[in-house]
Amino acid sequence: MQYDFSHYQAAAEYIRAHAPFVPDLAIVLGSCLGPFAETLENPVAIDYADIPNFLLTTVESHAGKLVFGTVQGKRVVCMSGRFHFYEGYAYEQLVLPVRVLKLLGVRALILTNAAGAVNEQYRPGDVMILSDHIKLTGASPLRGPNLDAFGPRFFDMTQAYTPALRAVARECAKRSSLTVHEGVYMFFTGPQFETPAEIRAARVLGADAVGMSTVTETLTAAHCGLPVLALSVMTNMAAGVLEQPLSEQEVEETATRIAAPFSAYVKDIIAHISLGK
Ligand code: HPA
Repeated sequence: MQYDFSHYQAAAEYIRAHAPFVPDLAIVLGSCLGPFAETLENPVAIDYADIPNFLLTTVESHAGKLVFGTVQGKRVVCMSGRFHFYEGYAYEQLVLPVRVLKLLGVRALILTNAAGAVNEQYRPGDVMILSDHIKLTGASPLRGPNLDAFGPRFFDMTQAYTPALRAVARECAKRSSLTVHEGVYMFFTGPQFETPAEIRAARVLGADAVGMSTVTETLTAAHCGLPVLALSVMTNMAAGVLEQPLSEQEVEETATRIAAPFSAYVKDIIAHISLGK
């Protein structure tokens, strides 16, 4: 499915008609922030299923709705449920949510995810601010006819993880009970976890963490000039770092354990972000 501009506009118009306000920023809730949307003040939810052209989440633990509400005085929209390549979407479809958020008028995007720690100094429960990413898996979500209304055909990735937002996240880390690192995230398509050999290769290439999301969203945001802050929660040591096999259960257990302090950290960041025009 290749979208044209009218598909994005139709989705954005529907949301605008049902939303309580134009949001200042959007936050994509990964597995580690599932309950975050429930803590918004004056929440208003819109089901993905009701939005024209929107995608439907197939991941059980993801809710599948946009939730509008205020956090620390800022107007926020949460994507409660995101879309992954492993669900069967084409890369080209994965641009849709971020482009719709851009049309809605958000001025910054916070991406959160669960990730496996490749860096052996990291521990499960630690957080990583993404400074950059590696994606060596073929196609891009921005392939196909370029929509100039969003951005140029060839676009810069040197500051995709916006330095000013990373600086805010580093400052807030000093007040948080969490251990916060800054490092490089490497994208794997999943749904299988990586092999130990892939993790050794990732480490040689310069990765500190691996995961199956976020990068497609960052690419879409970089194309349309939307500032991004991305945060990974290390839910497990990546494959082969420890003797034990990886399991979805371990990922979920750490995500649940860390949800409250991580949520407090993200709220502090939201409070301190200054948004451009
Ligand atoms: N690999 C990929 N994605 C993940 C992992 C992992 O080890 N943990 C949580 N998401």
